[in-house]
Order: sequence, then C-alpha cells, then structure tokens
Amino acid sequence: MSSRADRHDLYQRAVQCVEAEIDFVDAQFKRLRKRTAVRLREDFCGTANTSCEWVRRRATNSAVGLDLDPEPLAWGAANNVSKLTPSQRERTRLEQGNVLDDHSNDLGHFDIVLAMNFSYWCMKERATLLHYFRRVRESLAEGGVFFLDFYGGPDAIRVLKERRPIGRKNARNSFTYVWDQAEYDPISSDCTCYIHFRFPDGSRIDRAFSYHWRVWTIREIREVLQEAGFARSTVYWEGDDGEGGGNGVFTAAETGEACPSYVCYISAER
Ligand SMILES: C[S@@+](CC[C@H](N)C(=O)[O-])C[C@H]1O[C@@H](n2cnc3c(N)ncnc32)[C@H](O)[C@@H]1O
Repeated sequence: MSSRADRHDLYQRAVQCVEAEIDFVDAQFKRLRKRTAVRLREDFCGTANTSCEWVRRRATNSAVGLDLDPEPLAWGAANNVSKLTPSQRERTRLEQGNVLDDHSNDLGHFDIVLAMNFSYWCMKERATLLHYFRRVRESLAEGGVFFLDFYGGPDAIRVLKERRPIGRKNARNSFTYVWDQAEYDPISSDCTCYIHFRFPDGSRIDRAFSYHWRVWTIREIREVLQEAGFARSTVYWEGDDGEGGGNGVFTAAETGEACPSYVCYISAER
C-alpha cells in the first residue's frame, strides 16, 4: 500500500482543510476591511492546494502560490491546478521563489498573504523572521492583511507521537497519519518533527515530511509583526466543544486558555 501511495496526496488528506482555512480568512478579511478580498498570495504553498480553493471561491479571485521547492509545485500543477476550470486556471499562478526576496515587481501586491502550516517556523533567527514579515508587508496592497497559523501549549515542547486514522477503517485508501515531535531543545527552542504514514497492510512511509523549526511564542510573533511595521495584529482563539476539544470556530481574543495544545490564527494588518 505504501508503494502505491503518494505522499502529497496523503498530506493533503491528513493535514489540510483548505475549505475551512479559506472560510476563515475570507470572513475575517471582510470583518476587518468591510469588503471582499480579491488577490491572495500563498507563501510556502507546497502543492498550492489553498490557492486552488481561493480561485474556486469567486470568479473575481486570483492567487499566486510561492514556494522554494519545484517538486511540490510541479505536483500541485499536475494534480491540483489541472483540476480547475480554464477560468480558474487563468487566475492561478505558481511561482518558484524565496519568500525572503522582494517579489513586489514580478508578482504585484495582494489583499491577503498567507503563511500556513506553521511554515514560517523554519525561520529560526529573529532577524530573518523580521526580514520576512517586512517583505510580506511590502507585498500587501493598501488595506492588505497577512494571516498566519500558530500552534502551542506545553505539548508543543514535548517529545511525542500523535496518531490519527484517516478514512474508513481498512478501506482501500485508509491510513494512519503520525505526527512525530522527535526532538526539542529547551536551550535553542529548536525542534525536529516528522510526518509518517502507516497503512493497514503494515507497510509505511517513514519521514514522508521533515521539519526543522523554532518553537515560537505568540507574543514573540506579535512583537516581530509590530517591528515590521504592521499596524495591528489580532489573535483568533478556538471556541470550546464542551468536551475538552475545539469547536472549529476561531474568534478574536486577547487572552487564551492554558490548554495542553492548541492551534490558533494571527492576522496582521498593513
Ligand atoms: C510545512 S511545508 C507547507 C507546505 C504547504 N503549505 C502545504 O500545505 O502543502 C513548507 C513549505 O515551505 C517551503 N519553503 C521553505 N522555506 C521557504 C522559503 N524561504 N521560501 C519559499 N518557500 C519556502 C518548502 O519548500 C515547503 O514546500
């Protein structure tokens, strides 16, 4: 089963929910700016799954996916962009490039820039993160908003493995997603995480994806956003499902809850 599986397909099914992500950024942009966003840039886009969802949403929407690595970009072009209608395809551009470079001349300015799946955590030095946030701010149009996701809580700095079954039990395309926080160094805050996939026939894809990150805090991120010139940042905290879990509804908050682990969003207004 592992030899027939495609790691990008498994990743998209296990990790991403692009519909919910776009619902969230679209609604928050409207709330903040009293208009709908049109142009979106997806930084660290990988397979550009989110960009494709953005152009499907409205006939006026356009998206640019930006990533350093040609391999996921090529996969995204062949498997995601290819499934769009001709009109949606015309409004989607995939670009190989470094998010740290100035892209305002070649790619233009955007209403929304996204940095999701915690990808900006690959920037371990504060100066590098500040440089990136400055670049994002320069690439935003008047009234533009930068959205980032974030995870934290005491579990984020533990060595642990989390397993989650995906698909119907023993169905042909079912598998287990394993999030492996393999290393964490309390002195540097550096961590190494892997995604593994396990299949019902016992086969596996170990280290399908590897991440070398710094575990940041929300406060540090907001301070760097402010230093980069963003006028205001907002944290969106998830509501409670009444059984100790999240309910998928993220609302602006100034204080959070001391839970073992959480995912939240941050917006920064140009
Ligand atoms: C955590 S993955 C997220 C991928 C994507 N968001 C997805 O869900 O498919 C991180 C991605 O960031 C890209 N990346 C890392 N550093 C980058 C940089 N400086 N500029 C552009 N892309 C970068 C990697 O090539 C990789 O595809």
